[in-house]
Amino acid sequence: MQGYVIMIPQFELRRQYSSLKKELDDAVLSVMESGVFCLGDNVAKFEEEFARFVGAKHCVSVASGTDALILSLRASGVGSGDEVVTVANTASPTVMAVLAVSAVPVLVDCDEFYNIDVKKLENAITKKTKIIIPVHLYGQPCDMDRINTLAKKHGVKIVEDCAQAHGATYKGKHVGAANTGCFSFYPTKNLGAYGDGGAITTNDAAFAEKLKMLRAYGQKGTYDSKFFGYNSRLDEMQAAILRVKLKRLNGWVERRREIARLYNKNLQGVDVPREKEGGKHAYHLYVIAAKGRDALAEHLKKKGIGTKVHYPVPIHRQGAFSMIKGSYPRSEENATKILSLPMFPELTDEEVLRVCREVNAFVK
Ligand SMILES: Cc1ncc(COP(=O)(O)O)c(C=O)c1O
Repeated sequence: MQGYVIMIPQFELRRQYSSLKKELDDAVLSVMESGVFCLGDNVAKFEEEFARFVGAKHCVSVASGTDALILSLRASGVGSGDEVVTVANTASPTVMAVLAVSAVPVLVDCDEFYNIDVKKLENAITKKTKIIIPVHLYGQPCDMDRINTLAKKHGVKIVEDCAQAHGATYKGKHVGAANTGCFSFYPTKNLGAYGDGGAITTNDAAFAEKLKMLRAYGQKGTYDSKFFGYNSRLDEMQAAILRVKLKRLNGWVERRREIARLYNKNLQGVDVPREKEGGKHAYHLYVIAAKGRDALAEHLKKKGIGTKVHYPVPIHRQGAFSMIKGSYPRSEENATKILSLPMFPELTDEEVLRVCREVNAFVK
């Protein structure tokens, strides 16, 4: 952004902090005064509150969304030689997690909603498939009825990547409520910590117990590791911050949806996001598709408007995933056209309208 002052950033947190300052400061200070920093009351209460929010029986917090995926795959018994099916246009950690447990990632192209193309999913399932990871990308829930049906038919489990979809629902149920759900609390997420964090939701008590041991060296309360484990804990300060913010999450998601409606109504000449039937989009990102995307981004930058591309390089084109062969034409084409416009609950209507005016002026 060199040379230009960005007045309307793609994302920013200072406005939110100033509106919650007293409550957040008090929450952090009370943790410091308590002298308990790992797996204390705040973590336990946050897990209860987040499980309730999602509508799942259990929540196990961990150190990041990536760890949520890795631990979920491990707890599901995924290992060397097993195949895990996911989508070609996701954030790299979805696929990194598969590599982290020595499994083989198998990709499926996306549909016109930027989610895994369920019409192509069945072809990707083989006898070696253990897990399907649907990614509710940008906050849009995947077509879970069809994915659940296919998973049942082939006897594979589902681990939902809900990292971008806190507050999104499918047929009235929150994402992550029906299967294993993996959430990220990276600061920019719909529910973000002041550092890294993540959580897994599940309705299976034994699975939750296994996850709790996996996040703490394979131990259960004693210095006796029963099996291989990690150190992957959400800390008390992040849990205390998340508890303050969780109370606002529904309101923030509604505001994101209001902003999306305002964009949809006022943008011209670009493809705006569409909501899938049965799904409630949580608009972690507001992603348009436009011809001349790079020139549009440059134009907006000159006008003081920040944008980003999620994501500029499809998974199979990234060096870390060079073992993945095949072509994923829609994901490849999207990578040249998509642009994330400013989206965060504190954006004002006036700012949204200004972004629309600048996009429309460029397109004309
Ligand atoms: C779709 C998706 N999956 C997984 C992750 C990983 O989350 P974290 O950054 O908390 O490890 C992210 C975060 O960037 C994400 O967007």
